[in-house]
Amino acid sequence: MSGTRSVPSEPPLDLYGKDRSDRTTRVLDFIAESRLRWTTFVNRKEPPARVDDRRLPLVVVERRVEAHDTDVISLLLTAADGRKLPQWRPGAHLDLELPSGRVRQYSLCGDPADRNAYRVAVRRIPDGGGGSLEVHDALKIGTPVTVRGPRNAFPFVLPGYGSSAARVHFVAGGIGITPILPMVRMAHRLGVDWTMVYAGRSRDTIPFLGEVESFGDRVTIRTDDEHGLPDARALLPGVGTDTSVYCCGPVVMTQVIADAVRDMPGVELYSERFSPPPVVDGTAFRVELARTGETIEIPADKSVLEEVLKVRPDSPYSCRQGFCRTCRVRVVSGAIDHRDTVLTAAERDAGDMLMCVSRCDGDRLVLDL
Ligand code: FES
Repeated sequence: MSGTRSVPSEPPLDLYGKDRSDRTTRVLDFIAESRLRWTTFVNRKEPPARVDDRRLPLVVVERRVEAHDTDVISLLLTAADGRKLPQWRPGAHLDLELPSGRVRQYSLCGDPADRNAYRVAVRRIPDGGGGSLEVHDALKIGTPVTVRGPRNAFPFVLPGYGSSAARVHFVAGGIGITPILPMVRMAHRLGVDWTMVYAGRSRDTIPFLGEVESFGDRVTIRTDDEHGLPDARALLPGVGTDTSVYCCGPVVMTQVIADAVRDMPGVELYSERFSPPPVVDGTAFRVELARTGETIEIPADKSVLEEVLKVRPDSPYSCRQGFCRTCRVRVVSGAIDHRDTVLTAAERDAGDMLMCVSRCDGDRLVLDL
């Protein structure tokens, strides 16, 4: 047994060498602590809203026709209270909440340096689910709208600033010009070596044609009615090593470019498309709607969302590519084959699924619909 005796610890002296049990010290301590608590309280800050949660009330202040066939309009949106808008970079998009409750995503195509307004452009698509028709028909000057974002799923990396490429080649198809246009402006302003192919059905259908042509011979305009459908060689003229390719347009075009770039060493490809990706390695299965007992067959090459929309046309959706989360649904039973990259582990554990991309790991899913 040790011979050491334990000694009750004494409270340490304060900074002035006084015993802490001293009455004056206790009063001063009390005042100092109260002041500290008050200062902490009045200076407290709310945690900043996540970009995903940030909802901004805006108002339409300008509508412009951007294509000769009048199927593309652009809207200029400013804050309802006149305040400055959150910053964004080329490639960013907004989630636009439409008066019907639909949510649709539109690329920002204006000037990132303008903190007073956002510009988006929308092509009228008669059989596209109603979002573009609502924008064209219901969003007039003075209409209030709410947006979320901006978010950027298609960031532009300048050569020399995170990209090892020495030059940039842009490829835009039709309304796919919207995220590309701010990139082109930035590349041009900063003296980057760049070229571009802009493709469309005809000159009448191509939005922002005047502005794009103002960049001169860096740009090649190709239209199907004059030149025929473009192949990889026509879309990637002169593209060699040390080039970043930024591409936005229809699925067929982005696929042609992806296939070609795969065999081009030293070429980096960044692309965004406006249509759902094709189903890869899908198998057929059945979906049951828990609340009605209806059964829907999902073919191997179709998404759950596509088939559910046939019986529930008002089911919410937006991107159809598995990143906006709008089509999220709770699965009551069945094994999910998750094919998105945005749901958290907790959401997956709770049985959430994105109907536009994810599938069944088996032959039957029961959805809480
Ligand atoms: S519609 Fe956007 S994640 Fe499904």
